[in-house]
Amino acid sequence: MRKPIIAGNWKMNKTVKEAVELINELKPLVAKSKPEVVVCVPYTDLWAVKEAIAGSKIKLGAENVAWADNGAFTGEISADMLLEIGVEYVIIGHSERRQYFGETDQSVNARAKQALKKGLKPIICVGETLTEREKNKTKKVLKKQVVEGFKDFTAEDFANIVIAYEPVWAIGTGKTATAEDANKTIGYIRSLVKKIWGSEVAKALRIQYGGSMKPTNAKELMAMRNIDGGLIGGAALKATDFAGIVNYKNN
Ligand code: 13P
Repeated sequence: MRKPIIAGNWKMNKTVKEAVELINELKPLVAKSKPEVVVCVPYTDLWAVKEAIAGSKIKLGAENVAWADNGAFTGEISADMLLEIGVEYVIIGHSERRQYFGETDQSVNARAKQALKKGLKPIICVGETLTEREKNKTKKVLKKQVVEGFKDFTAEDFANIVIAYEPVWAIGTGKTATAEDANKTIGYIRSLVKKIWGSEVAKALRIQYGGSMKPTNAKELMAMRNIDGGLIGGAALKATDFAGIVNYKNN
């Protein structure tokens, strides 16, 4: 059985003060929840959030990591820097990184390999844009993202990898893929992994859905066979909304 994983992606939101307030409100609301709970927060919030989540079941995540160990890479943050703070998960290849910051399947691959080498668990994002979807290119796009983005990953690597399927047209738009549609597409991603890395890997791999997930649609999405969790943007910024997703079983 795959353990569900609900992760918040705060994106470029929350000052340190706001971050601590949110965590303090969130902690009691998720204290008894079954899924694994992760908050992926801006670098500047990491230290304060690490202290605020102490003693709770909430795990710490970052929103990116450099591919190099250290050196002249202005503006980048290394795996060692994250590990020393206590970061466990790191989002890699989010569509906003691909869209606004020039991330490619190759840079995603390099960052993910570095995360794996250092012992961080990458949450690797894949997903098609609206245009690609309308042109019936969803499968082709996902295949390229998996084949090139996951190049040279070993079967063992997958024990520490989470994939997030985020259709770009559903991010922050209020449009959610239907549960059936998300399930089918995630099933396709799983079949790609099966073809390359084998059925044991594919069976154990956790794949999240992301894109306008909220307390009102979480239960239906999470009921789907292939959906093992959620990567939550907007709704992760409000404690009651995020907790409502984490506790989807009670909805
Ligand atoms: P929203 O939940 O705001 O649609 O964002 C999803 C997302 O991009 C999570 O990484």
